[in-house]
Amino acid sequence: MGFHALSGEGLTRELDHLWVAPEQLGAGVGAALFVHAARTARAEGASELRIASDPNAEGFYVKMGARRAGEVPSRPAGRTLPLLVLRLASASIALGIGLLQTLGGRAVLRRA
Ligand SMILES: CC(C)(COP(=O)(O)OP(=O)(O)OC[C@H]1O[C@@H](n2cnc3c(N)ncnc32)[C@H](O)[C@@H]1OP(=O)(O)O)[C@@H](O)C(=O)NCCC(=O)NCCS
Repeated sequence: MGFHALSGEGLTRELDHLWVAPEQLGAGVGAALFVHAARTARAEGASELRIASDPNAEGFYVKMGARRAGEVPSRPAGRTLPLLVLRLASASIALGIGLLQTLGGRAVLRRA
């Protein structure tokens, strides 16, 4: 269905990958994976999650509670990517309640 990958350690973690299989797009899988990544980072002691976002995914991360914090060079070089930050301490309510309410009606959670 999809996967995520975190990197870094300590107070700041990076979301290096978040991918959903094309046939599952729009079904809540991305949000469920994002919540899992954020909860994992927070449980491991991080206070913020940074995302060098694909430009097309920025709206998704904003919907998940992250905020634009600048731009970073892409790898490989050649363009800049939006940098988004999710503050994990202040996101506790959103992560614990808001996003789960958002996800509550979705098929992915009914199957989980
Ligand atoms: C971005 C991605 C992970 C979203 O996954 P998804 O499973 O389709 O997202 P969800 O169904 O969980 O959507 C959650 C909410 O975000 C919104 N959303 C999803 N993708 C969006 C986008 N690209 N822009 C704006 N909003 C988006 C949905 O409409 C939904 O909103 P709603 O709750 O109001 O209905 C997925 O499109 C993907 O894998 N893209 C290709 C890889 C990629 O770009 N990953 C990011 C790398 S930084």
